[in-house]
Amino acid sequence: MANLKKDIAASIAVGLVAIPLCLGIAHASGAPLMSGLVAGITGGLVVGTMSKSNLAVSGPAAGLTTIVLAAIATLKSYESFLTAVVLAGVIQFLFGKMRVGGLSRLFPSPVIKGMLSAIGLILIMKQFPHLIGFDRESFGVEEFFDTDKDMESGSGKGLNTFRMIGLAVSSLEPGALLIGLTSLTLLYLWDWKLARRFPIVPGSLVAVLAAVLINQVLSPGMQVIGKHLVTVPELHPNNFVHPDWGALSNPQVYLVALTIALVASVESLLSVEALDRLDPQNRSTPPNSELLAQGVGNVVSGLLGGLPITAVIVRGSVNLAAGGTSKRSAILHGAWILIASLGFRNGINSIPLAALAAVLVHVGIKMAHPRILKQMSKRGWSQFIPFVVTVAAILFTDLLIGISIGTVVSGCFILRNLHVAKGFTVHKSGVITQIKLHQEVTFFHKVRLAGVLEAVPADTILEIDGSEARTIDHDVLDLLELFKAQAANKNIEIIFGGISLMESFSEKQVAAMQAEYDTLLSNNQAWVEECQKDDPQYFERMAVGQKPTFLFIGCSDSRVPAEVITRTEAGRLFVHRNIANVVSLHDMNLMSVLQYSVDHLVVPHIIVCGHYGCGGVRAALSSQSFGLIDNWVHPIKKVVDENQAELASILDADQRERRIIELHVLAQVRNILKTPVVQRSIQKLGIPRVHGWVYDMATAKSRISRQT
Ligand code: CO
Repeated sequence: MANLKKDIAASIAVGLVAIPLCLGIAHASGAPLMSGLVAGITGGLVVGTMSKSNLAVSGPAAGLTTIVLAAIATLKSYESFLTAVVLAGVIQFLFGKMRVGGLSRLFPSPVIKGMLSAIGLILIMKQFPHLIGFDRESFGVEEFFDTDKDMESGSGKGLNTFRMIGLAVSSLEPGALLIGLTSLTLLYLWDWKLARRFPIVPGSLVAVLAAVLINQVLSPGMQVIGKHLVTVPELHPNNFVHPDWGALSNPQVYLVALTIALVASVESLLSVEALDRLDPQNRSTPPNSELLAQGVGNVVSGLLGGLPITAVIVRGSVNLAAGGTSKRSAILHGAWILIASLGFRNGINSIPLAALAAVLVHVGIKMAHPRILKQMSKRGWSQFIPFVVTVAAILFTDLLIGISIGTVVSGCFILRNLHVAKGFTVHKSGVITQIKLHQEVTFFHKVRLAGVLEAVPADTILEIDGSEARTIDHDVLDLLELFKAQAANKNIEIIFGGISLMESFSEKQVAAMQAEYDTLLSNNQAWVEECQKDDPQYFERMAVGQKPTFLFIGCSDSRVPAEVITRTEAGRLFVHRNIANVVSLHDMNLMSVLQYSVDHLVVPHIIVCGHYGCGGVRAALSSQSFGLIDNWVHPIKKVVDENQAELASILDADQRERRIIELHVLAQVRNILKTPVVQRSIQKLGIPRVHGWVYDMATAKSRISRQT
């Protein structure tokens, strides 16, 4: 119940402000004054009823005045223009059905905030002349340059806002000044002290009523009269105009309709979005249903001779400031305009414009409070700059151009944030500089990264962690590659931690890798030809079957190729290689190889070939973890344990490692001799003989450690 009373009170306040705004916008648009009232009534009763917004108020929009003015001139008659308004409504309705309203969610937050502040500033600057009785410009226009037709102007354009203020100060009306300032003071007094005592009554209503009373008691010289008062034309059935359907054959009608539909839709969606953000209850309006409501509103307004409608921020903000809580206040405000223009004109026509200007200045100061500037400055440049740019652009152009500029600037910052701010993070502790690369490292980061690398001091450690990087731009890889050489000069140790850098090679590297691979294939071709030159039947003989003489068990190390170091032809060695030439009885792979070579190939010799400098053995000796390999080379640790006494006597670490490798090979030889398959074969045939070798890469000679 309390809310209903609040809504009724707020609706009266909104209605009082809306009436001069509707009239002023109609005047500035070069349209009949009645068209503003019709749009205001329709915006309240029709759009208000259909809209799901709780605070938005719809009506004729200041943002459309220039478009309407130009459109009426283009279409040559107001009746033809009304046809375009009806069509615009139909298009908006279709927009809603096509669900394009969701796009409004793309408006960046600093732009919406900038729009609210800009409109606040516009209200302050544009209403100030009205506040002091300078009513030359239409009430409610928002453009920086006045477009009023009856303005004399020095240049092609009308007076700008600042010159208008100057002119107003030099020719103020004392009565209006008194009324305006009293109203403004009352509004602040109400906010400050009285609002809590009379929560239902909006200060704006009190201020307007006080203004009317003051004006009645002023001396005739001071009294505000004529054009300084609200002047509502009579809403009479004979005055109604209707669309001229003949205009449908004029292609320009469709262009105008589309323009109005687009601009009105954007302005409506921006307004509801902005008001949703101001809503203390944080309710939100579905954008597509708003477009449907706006579309229906424009069809009705056009049919009745009204101006195009949008949701409008100023009236919505007055609604909020006056305590409106639900859509009832928006609907009722339409009813008040209707009642006022039908039968209460004399009452309304005694309201001084200065009082309504005070209401709007008061709302404007709330919307453009310096506190908002401070808040935005705390959010960093990427929010603050688009905000300031939006405010300035709207002030000096108009709402739509300003919003577009602000959105572009904000978009640039969003892109920059995506690419630059999050490319990598730098962390310094002591002599270690850590650079953590983020998911995407693009060429946008190159310059900053180069600066960071440049700044790494000499004789320190640089850790570059690319474990989370999914893509690294080639330019950045080249930069890192280049820096390696510089780092060596400055004695900077670079650690590429968990770097998936290796997953993204430079184009040069990729080409080199491909060339190497191609060489492999061409070498194979050359080898085939060479073999056939010496022995044309070489491959035919090979195809018959194999009869190798040796089972070679070696390390996977690329530097220990079995055939190359033993200079054997194809067909002579049966080979098994694994890391550190481990012979495990649990290894299905090796046991299969062993059984096949002993039982079926009946090889006379089995060679276990280890090598000095074996990485697998080093891994087993190291306390560092290498993953799965740790399990594989675990048997080597056992070899070390079993020979602890001998190894302890070797003081030189290199010598000790060499001895471990020899002992490891011997242990693998014993492992082979212990297998049932080898024991059975030796019992039956006396073969195979098992040999332990250690290959020394430094001298390229194999040391034969043991023969059986
Ligand atoms: Co090895």
